Amino acid sequence: MTFEVSGKKAVIIYSAPHVLGLMLCLLLAAASCQAQNIAGRWGATGKTLDNGEVRKAILDLRQAGTQLTGSVTTLGFVATVKGAVIGAHVKIFGPWSDQHPFLVGDVVNGELHLLQDTQDQWVFKPATPADDFPKPTYVDPPTLHKVPYNGLAKTPPMGWNSWNLFAGKIDDKTVRTMADAMVSSGMRDAGYIYVNIDDTWEGIRDAQGNLQPNYKFPDMKALSAYVHSMGLKLGIYSSPGPRTCAGYPASYGHEQQDANIFASWGIDYLKYDWCSAGSIYKNESLQPIYQKMGEALHATGRPIVYSLCEYGLGSVEKWGADVSGNLWRTTDDIRDNWDSMLSNIEKQAPTAPYAGPGHWNDPDMLEIGNGRMSDDEYRTHMSLWALTAAPLLAGNDIRTMSAVTKSILMNKEVIAIDQDSLGKQALPVKNGNLETWIKPLSDGGVAVGVVNLGPAAAQATVHASDLHLAHAVAKARDLWRHQEVEFVNGSYAATIPSHSVLLLRLWLQ
Ligand code: GLA
Repeated sequence: MTFEVSGKKAVIIYSAPHVLGLMLCLLLAAASCQAQNIAGRWGATGKTLDNGEVRKAILDLRQAGTQLTGSVTTLGFVATVKGAVIGAHVKIFGPWSDQHPFLVGDVVNGELHLLQDTQDQWVFKPATPADDFPKPTYVDPPTLHKVPYNGLAKTPPMGWNSWNLFAGKIDDKTVRTMADAMVSSGMRDAGYIYVNIDDTWEGIRDAQGNLQPNYKFPDMKALSAYVHSMGLKLGIYSSPGPRTCAGYPASYGHEQQDANIFASWGIDYLKYDWCSAGSIYKNESLQPIYQKMGEALHATGRPIVYSLCEYGLGSVEKWGADVSGNLWRTTDDIRDNWDSMLSNIEKQAPTAPYAGPGHWNDPDMLEIGNGRMSDDEYRTHMSLWALTAAPLLAGNDIRTMSAVTKSILMNKEVIAIDQDSLGKQALPVKNGNLETWIKPLSDGGVAVGVVNLGPAAAQATVHASDLHLAHAVAKARDLWRHQEVEFVNGSYAATIPSHSVLLLRLWLQ
């Protein structure tokens, strides 16, 4: 979806209802294609958040011919933008993608009617001073020092998180029913202990600056008591910026106050998402800014797992443990598709040496059971997360999951690979369409996963001699077939369907 305009000829690769207008523009004289002038400052209001605040946006646009540059400001965020206006048609790209515009639409009677990629409709009018956002006061990052380890997450954290399935549609009742289902489905007993509320729970701050939940969470303390009564733990979400990624109030300037409130509610896990902090601080400040909340959590005296969510920015693996981080995101957000899942897990390979008991690389939450990958692909997803000692945070509807989804998420033999106390992260070795991952285990054995990346079934042979083992193989099990397999003359061969995995657990003599 890009377009180039060179002289009178335009090359358009495009997919939208405006194709006809643009084609007409191409057929007619160049004058009719002239870009409308939309340089200037535009203000818009969007939908109302769950805490009653109204979303606003300001577009500051400069224009040279058809080309646009400038910035967009929303609650807590400022981002540079570029784009184009052809006739009355407008496309605007953020710094995060040159391929997909995040605002597309038309000039209509002196207004910009733009549809966001999230499907939100914005009507921009010439901005007035009332559209301006209050600027947060700049707070210097603290000087660096080590925050003591909180003693948690000796093995990768396991649980459930609301974002992948519910995004903004999460509330107290859903969390309670999910907690019930974690118990009745067997998830809790399989090790999935944390029930984590992601973004959009936030209300507004009261006169003392205490952050309240919004109407969807009437009583956080009662909710945590309920979740605890089920033998589970409760997680929550915030950002070091003034706003979360969904635009809700976050912890900037209120770090200790928020940590104290979370502790007083009985929170056991905090996911702390960089989001709008990126509009205030450069990436060089990631460590001190995460250190601030690490210290604040430590000061509460409550054991709270600290999950850093910064999309792999700032070489987090090198300092995450120093701010008492128990896990840190190594990649962008996962999507429920094969390419996204695979690229997340492959991308985090260079961070492998930094994973270990107490602090883990996090390639993002699980999509297993959300419906857009095949069962084989979900088995591969689970296997790869286990081989790489990744946190296992289910992101599906536990209340309604199918027998197959249960068999994937609750495969105890695969979970045991993830939770092995040695805490080693496997690395991939590619051979054509076959990718082999080897994870050393605490008893001297290994887990071996062979993924078939290709479009057709493939024959794979695992040679013990390739695995650099200290001793010969005594016993081997196929962890998806749940049966012992035999190494004959030091090797084992199997057919692996497309996008599927052969996952073996080897015990040595
Ligand atoms: C970011 C994070 C996601 C989720 C959303 C919530 O995109 O990476 O995991 O928490 O924010 O807004």
